Amino acid sequence: MTMRAAALTEAHRLDETTSAFAGEAIAGLTQQPKQLSPKYFYDVTGSELFEQITRLPEYYPTRTELGILRDRAAEIAAIIPDNAALVEFGAGATTKVRLLLDACEFSAYVPVDISGDFLNAQARGLKKDFPHLQIYPVTADFTTPFALPDRVKAMPKVGFFPGSTLGNFEPHEASRFLRSARDILGHGAQMLIGVDLEKNERVLYDAYNDAAGVTARFNLNVLVRINRELGGNFDLSAFTHRAIYNRERHRIEMHLISNKSQTVRIQGRTISFRIGESIHTESSYKYSLDRFIALAKGSGWTPAASWTDPDGMFSVHALVASSD
Ligand code: AVI
Repeated sequence: MTMRAAALTEAHRLDETTSAFAGEAIAGLTQQPKQLSPKYFYDVTGSELFEQITRLPEYYPTRTELGILRDRAAEIAAIIPDNAALVEFGAGATTKVRLLLDACEFSAYVPVDISGDFLNAQARGLKKDFPHLQIYPVTADFTTPFALPDRVKAMPKVGFFPGSTLGNFEPHEASRFLRSARDILGHGAQMLIGVDLEKNERVLYDAYNDAAGVTARFNLNVLVRINRELGGNFDLSAFTHRAIYNRERHRIEMHLISNKSQTVRIQGRTISFRIGESIHTESSYKYSLDRFIALAKGSGWTPAASWTDPDGMFSVHALVASSD
């Protein structure tokens, strides 16, 4: 492809991404109750804010999951076949995958993410430390079907979905994702998945209402994006971050609450807010071990092992694709 053709293709892709964002944002903000998808948190600033969240004293999931992977590395390695391809759904910091690559004999690593630039940077960093590992980044939305690279097709497959990202899916979406992952990885595949657990509500509340206000900035970043990318005119000081635990639905809900009655313009549309009206921006479902195991069984996977930290805060599960 010529440089000009590549630039045009990129511009076209950006246009499509922006119009998908505009369509979803306007649809979400004109329905009752108002909502925005959490996937729009993650531009460069949002990803950076999320990395800061993972280091907050109140945000226990990241360090607890890392502790489980570190403490159980030998047990995990014992059930993973040698020379398998490790397929990671979504790419973030490489700390967790490095633990697995150190502990197990993987031949190939296939990180899958919507951001190609991020994937390539991540692959370059890993290649330095694991020179014999074949790395095949796949740029794709991992929640929809995609093809694995031909070079890994004959290898045993192990999926990796850490961080309790599954918790950000509605239960029916979580089930659909697990089924799709089984279809992509194929017969005999395994899956390692991190799932946050139900616990003391104060601990949950604090994890999403940190004292330093990083989660609040992360939440408000979706409005910053709408202003910048869609020409919106949200007044950020007129919205407040709120995170609550919804006990009946086993989920933390993040909201942005309108501090006053106001209107906002986005791409020629006027959106009205009542004082106290909420935009629901994220749900983070918390599972019991039994409820997660039932979800996995109902979505094409047979649980093989489950590990938790000593305080029962977080869980990591090894699943095997069911043959049905
Ligand atoms: C990415 N995901 C698992 C995080 C969570 O805990 O649900 C996102 C997050 N939202 C607020 N803090 C962190």
